[in-house]
Amino acid sequence: MDTKLVVADFENWREAVAEAVALLEDGEVVALPTETVYGLAADAFNAEAVAKVFEVKERPSFDPLIVHIGHKRDLDCVVDVPEELEEVVEALIEAYWPGPLTLVLPKKPEVPDLVTSGMDTVAVRLSSHEVMRAVAREIPIAAPSANRFGRISPTSAQAVMEELGGKIPMVIDGGACRDGLESTIVAPEMSDKGPVLRLLRPGPIAREDLRKIAKVIRPKRTKADHVEAPGQVESHYAPATPLILIDKPGDFVPEEGVKYGLLSYRGEGNSSLMDATEWAHTEIMSPGKGKLAEGGVRLFYCLRNLDAADVDVIVSESVSETGIGVAIMDRLRRAAAASKK
Ligand code: TXA
Ligand code: MG
Repeated sequence: MDTKLVVADFENWREAVAEAVALLEDGEVVALPTETVYGLAADAFNAEAVAKVFEVKERPSFDPLIVHIGHKRDLDCVVDVPEELEEVVEALIEAYWPGPLTLVLPKKPEVPDLVTSGMDTVAVRLSSHEVMRAVAREIPIAAPSANRFGRISPTSAQAVMEELGGKIPMVIDGGACRDGLESTIVAPEMSDKGPVLRLLRPGPIAREDLRKIAKVIRPKRTKADHVEAPGQVESHYAPATPLILIDKPGDFVPEEGVKYGLLSYRGEGNSSLMDATEWAHTEIMSPGKGKLAEGGVRLFYCLRNLDAADVDVIVSESVSETGIGVAIMDRLRRAAAASKK
């Protein structure tokens, strides 16, 4: 299959959106930009189209998808917000929609079981990217990140082409993703003391921000140590090249004959790992002063470059776990854990 790459610029983005909507109405899947990462979209209410998403991604069907809506008011088409949670849900939406926040809430029966992997809740978000929002206004979209299962999420149309080129009919290029990390996922719940927010996946909306709205609690762990967001398996977000995450610079002891690539946070003059060995390739997340937001935007881009470079092992520095740094470290730990398997 030929994959058509359409650049949604100022002049033609409406036509691009119309073309994507037509394909989606036909039961096809298309890749669309969002502010976090690119998504692989299907009509959320067409189970056959949703099945194509799993097939194209080679994703196991026990891993549920996020439904993207086009207006705040469309939330009621997808979920039943329990009365006792109405206030907290309203506050979250007011503060962060459109934006990189996904809410897990009781699903409406009309949402196909395949979207939610048979669970009675569904993950919903309203993207701030004008292309995704314009498409979702016409047709509610089920969309996971547009990468093959277990691989790095794409933050550019180019990266989507590398992942899924030849497998889908269309990719809309809406530019580089503004946040670069997948949305924060939260399940609002009722506790004895009132509503709480269960943080299922750290992302661009930080814990500190959520705390202003309600108490934030950790995901439940089952016996098998599986976290509650089923897709939060450790092997997510992994480059094909093994990655080791270094906490203290002294922890890294290079081995003879191994080609190492470095993922540095701030680079030359600000990195104690820079001189630790002869690096075959170096990527810097936020050169100079080091801004965590910039690190978030560039993380997957840098990992992709390291994966494409001729290195045997990727060595990554740690960043401070505040704000979006929590989400960056979450993705790096998963990549490191996947490398151990
Ligand atoms: O930023 C994002 O969220 C991107 C863009 C494309 O919107 N999407 C994304 O989708 O990251 P995906 O499929 O790669 O990750 C969705 C995560 C998975 O870990 C999945 O298990 C979890 O959301 N999830 C979906 N439905 C859920 C539910 N009902 N309960 C708990 N977790 C759920
Ligand atoms: Mg994903």
